[in-house]
Amino acid sequence: MQEDLSEILLDADSIARRVEEIALELGRRLAPMAQRDEPVVLVPVLTGSLVFTADLIRHLPQKMRLDVVTVSSYAGATTESRGATIRGAVPEDMAGRHVVLVDDIFDTGNTLSLLDGLVRERGAASVTICVLLAKPSRYEVDLRPDLIGFEIPDAFVVGYGLDYDGLYRNLPYIGILKPEAVK
Ligand code: IMP
Ligand code: MG
Repeated sequence: MQEDLSEILLDADSIARRVEEIALELGRRLAPMAQRDEPVVLVPVLTGSLVFTADLIRHLPQKMRLDVVTVSSYAGATTESRGATIRGAVPEDMAGRHVVLVDDIFDTGNTLSLLDGLVRERGAASVTICVLLAKPSRYEVDLRPDLIGFEIPDAFVVGYGLDYDGLYRNLPYIGILKPEAVK
């Protein structure tokens, strides 16, 4: 798999250190809600945020629930964003809850903007957006993530949950895909 990458952008140790930092910050923001015994629900946006979420939540000491949502924005083998499509059920029980949307990457922002709207419509008490990566040069929406692991340039990256055509999610680091590896 590594032969399909032109560059390793973020190695496993750097990711692990940063995930711990973001978790501490997220934990600080959630602490007042937890103290008041208000319900917190993390909503991982699958499939890309699977690995990030697994690492993130193990640094969070608060009581919280997990309620996943599945979205696909790259239909098949393309590196171009085509707008987000929600697959399957959207978590229903959001009313009065503090919702943390967790995703792998904030690219154009369309996916998280769509989900942010839905969750607010369903009466969430607050919405926090937490992403591992962001590509500020690609933003197309007014919404901004509350917590960002790393801002990266406009390149197509894979690994640590991020895929190209369903592949490379299991790489423990994040790298830039070679143009030749794109079908
Ligand atoms: P957005 O709606 O344009 O923000 O797209 C967000 C989704 O597109 C992410 O959740 C990823 O699944 C996917 N995506 C965006 N950029 C990349 C990338 O560089 N590598 C892999 N997936 C990406
Ligand atoms: Mg995704």
